Amino acid sequence: MHPALIRPIPIWQAPTGSIAGPELCTAVSTVGGMGAMGLTWTPPATAAEAVREVCSRTTEPFLVNFALAFEPIALQSVLDAGAPIVSFSWGQPGRLIDTVHKAGALVGVAVGSSQGASIAVQDGADFLIAQGLEAGGHVQSTTPLNVLLPDVLEVAGTVPVVAAGGIAMGSQVATILRTGALGVMMGTRFVATLESRAHAEYRDLLVSANAADTVLTGCFDVGWPQAPHRVLRNSTFKNWEASGYTTGAARPGNSDVIATTQAGAGILRYEDTAPMVGMHGNIEAMCCYAGQGVGGIQSIISAADVVERLWNETQAALLGQSD
Ligand SMILES: Cc1cc2nc3c(=O)[nH]c(=O)nc-3n(C[C@H](O)[C@H](O)[C@H](O)COP(=O)(O)O)c2cc1C
Repeated sequence: MHPALIRPIPIWQAPTGSIAGPELCTAVSTVGGMGAMGLTWTPPATAAEAVREVCSRTTEPFLVNFALAFEPIALQSVLDAGAPIVSFSWGQPGRLIDTVHKAGALVGVAVGSSQGASIAVQDGADFLIAQGLEAGGHVQSTTPLNVLLPDVLEVAGTVPVVAAGGIAMGSQVATILRTGALGVMMGTRFVATLESRAHAEYRDLLVSANAADTVLTGCFDVGWPQAPHRVLRNSTFKNWEASGYTTGAARPGNSDVIATTQAGAGILRYEDTAPMVGMHGNIEAMCCYAGQGVGGIQSIISAADVVERLWNETQAALLGQSD
């Protein structure tokens, strides 16, 4: 295994689209975890700048992600800028693995099945991310993590595996580490931190939510159709549910512009855009991604505190104490 993948603390921050910028990524890597940035939708020059920013703040490793349901337009720019690790999700990277390796970076592939794991290993992935259906955001898997992970570990052999989906407590981390996984990856928990670019109202909604307040759905499909996602059961979802899951223009408020971006662009009710700092409007009704571990989030604290507290809880659980 490449030494860059062995972190002092085996807690990895998940790439959470534009919500995970250089501040969050740097904070997690600096404290000994693995920071991440989601750069799928970021223009190449901005993506390269984000990578340079993290590299200027820390010499610790971090990863950048591209969801392959979209063209990875910034891949070469971030490699040129010195990204040390690239993760791909939502598709098999195939020959892109060689592109990343030639630039001297490592490759992770997010998988939702043992078949996906098998292809990624054969193609030369340096590590895998097993994403269970408990995950927040877009969900590749139809299988719970506790079923998926042993299968992926078996197929992976000596290739290390990081587990993702619904994780927010030390007892969960301890259970996963005992399986032989390299680490855990958490998205929702880090969305609700001081360094995240999530809108304050969205972060507060995460603090007050529980697992039963999340739903795996196709509701917010504008921008990324036919890709199941786990979100909070908010007013947009509940009205759509009450309408009998109507489609297209028949959906309640289908053409409503419910918020605006910092630049003033309108955001449609069923758009896949998560609420971010600088946005205005009906934040609650927007696409508020959340995993099933959301109930473990008690307050908005710094990313360093999340890592440290969770690691303390994990160590206590590993030693057989209560967490
Ligand atoms: C707000 C949000 C945005 C996400 N964006 C991405 C993304 O851009 N690329 C990706 O591979 N996964 C993305 N995910 C999924 C995460 O990488 C990860 O699998 C998930 O957060 C793990 O589940 P958890 O949220 O329960 O911790 C996102 C998740 C959230 C919550």
